[in-house]
Amino acid sequence: MTGLDKNNRYRRIIDAISDGIYLVDDSFTVTAINQAEAAHFGVHPREIVGRKCYEVFRARHQVCPDCMVKLCLADCRQRQWLRVERRRQGRQYVNIFFHPIIDTLSSRCLEVVVYIQDVSERVVLEKQAMQAEKMAVLGQMAAGVSHDLNNFLASIYGIIQLQQLMMKKEQRDYKKEERLSRQLMKQVEALNLLARNLMLFSHPEHEEKFPLPLNKIIMDALSFSRYELERKQVVIECRLDETLPAIPVMKTQLQHVLLNLMLNAAEAIRMKKKDFEGDFSGTIVICTRMRDADHVAVDIIDNGCGIPESVREQIFEPFFSTKNDGSGVVKGVGLGLTTAKTIVEKHDGWLEWTSRERQGATFTVVLPVGKNSSR
Ligand SMILES: Nc1ncnc2c1ncn2[C@@H]1O[C@H](COP(=O)(O)OP(=O)(O)OP(=O)(O)O)[C@@H](O)[C@H]1O
Ligand SMILES: [Mg+2]
Repeated sequence: MTGLDKNNRYRRIIDAISDGIYLVDDSFTVTAINQAEAAHFGVHPREIVGRKCYEVFRARHQVCPDCMVKLCLADCRQRQWLRVERRRQGRQYVNIFFHPIIDTLSSRCLEVVVYIQDVSERVVLEKQAMQAEKMAVLGQMAAGVSHDLNNFLASIYGIIQLQQLMMKKEQRDYKKEERLSRQLMKQVEALNLLARNLMLFSHPEHEEKFPLPLNKIIMDALSFSRYELERKQVVIECRLDETLPAIPVMKTQLQHVLLNLMLNAAEAIRMKKKDFEGDFSGTIVICTRMRDADHVAVDIIDNGCGIPESVREQIFEPFFSTKNDGSGVVKGVGLGLTTAKTIVEKHDGWLEWTSRERQGATFTVVLPVGKNSSR
């Protein structure tokens, strides 16, 4: 360090730091910036120094409405801000510290040091840990809950059967009784789906894989969900490739995946209908195809409400659900996609999806054709 003047020495220190640092004065002009931070913008520090911070960092013509520097200048207090920013390497989680430099004589804040730490790795690790924790909790509760639910289901079914017997024998209000039994049936179907989701998730059922035609599994899943789809007035269009080979599948589990995806699509259509003014025909297109030489694919395409940007990262998390009854009360359990993903992965396949908000969504199940598949 000998031979260097004080400024040069400080310059070397801040340039040696790999986090970003810059200084902004009370007219929002950048007065200094280290190399690491300038490198995020692909320029030399001298191309930034002397310019307004809102221009260089946010491409604005005036002070940003959420400006933290402005707050620090006003009350001389330190601040911290965790946010997602688009930087040179793509989307990053950054922790930004704002340290005011206070003039001892006037007690005014003259400049603010902005210190930017990339915490993406830590945030991702924390998210993974949270996910693992959720899975563990789910595993513990799932076995018990699904057992209770199955008992519950058995008794509801018993009541319905009795009711139907009585309806046949006596003169009663048939319409009312039928409506009642339909409602009961709907409850049973919902509970059944929940029980199976929980069971498959906690104790994946052991089922052997057998080569079966994919189209047949789709038709079976459709027959299970027909009542719900008709009730939601959804039009189903099947575009099935009849030349697909039979593939090795765990039939019940795969039916369950398709059922979940179809019910999600129907729900998305119901949500869109609720807000849509004018004529709108809710349609689900089910398409089977060879994806490549080794894989077949099933696309479930809906023209429902689509998946908003804000929830895209959460839809595969257990217990995440936006299904609601219109008054904001969540009525989904949020296990459909989690279970579907687990089952598809057990088949050495994967789930793909795309969506445009208010336009619809496409979920694709991709499955390997296996070694002994035959056309
Ligand atoms: N086709 C789709 N269109 C729009 N949003 C969807 C679609 N499929 C899934 N989603 C979103 O993903 C969330 C999670 O789906 P998932 O199937 O796991 O749970 P759920 O349908 O809410 O509840 P459950 O299936 O357990 O009854 C949904 O609440 C919804 O926000
Ligand atoms: Mg669902």
